[in-house]
Amino acid sequence: MADDTSLELIHPGHPLYDGELELRFRVLREPLGFSRADVKFPFEDASLHLVAHAGGTVTGCVLFHPEDAHGGRLFQMAVAPSLQGKGLGARLVRALEDSLRQRGFRHVHLHARAQVVPFYERLGYAVYGEPYVEVGVPHRNMQRDL
Ligand SMILES: CC(C)(COP(=O)(O)OP(=O)(O)OC[C@H]1O[C@@H](n2cnc3c(N)ncnc32)[C@H](O)[C@@H]1OP(=O)(O)O)[C@@H](O)C(=O)NCCC(=O)NCCS
Repeated sequence: MADDTSLELIHPGHPLYDGELELRFRVLREPLGFSRADVKFPFEDASLHLVAHAGGTVTGCVLFHPEDAHGGRLFQMAVAPSLQGKGLGARLVRALEDSLRQRGFRHVHLHARAQVVPFYERLGYAVYGEPYVEVGVPHRNMQRDL
């Protein structure tokens, strides 16, 4: 992307964390009727938080929860609506995967909303298991080896 967007790994408490939470609320929770109190996960502090930001504004994020020494779950993938479809989501996933490889992780799984399965398939993820409903939305499990 020919812009001033930077990607940065942060932790809860970082100055960009509130912006990350607000983006997650606006993109992933508010449209489903959930409140800001429903944004955080129990394993928030134990997860990697990769954010995209420009001029102090968080425009995208993706999180990873390590579940063992080899792998874990990618979650809370979100891009600001005005920037969707311009490559930022793919850039975030690729950068997260690079960071995970450097940390020795070899497997990633995720809960994909059914309508977003093609996005993850383009990035090398494959569906497994049966469809199910989570946060009121049809989902598929997906995974890839790094
Ligand atoms: C899903 C999301 C993260 C994708 O990020 P993005 O920046 O819009 O996607 P990109 O522009 O990087 O797209 C990468 C590729 O995936 C494709 N793609 C993206 N979203 C898609 C979708 N919903 N259906 C089909 N293809 C899609 C793009 O066309 C592009 O294809 P290309 O490589 O052939 O050009 C973003 O649209 C978003 O935040 N959506 C709302 C929240 C959400 O559903 N999050 C995922 C929860 S599991």
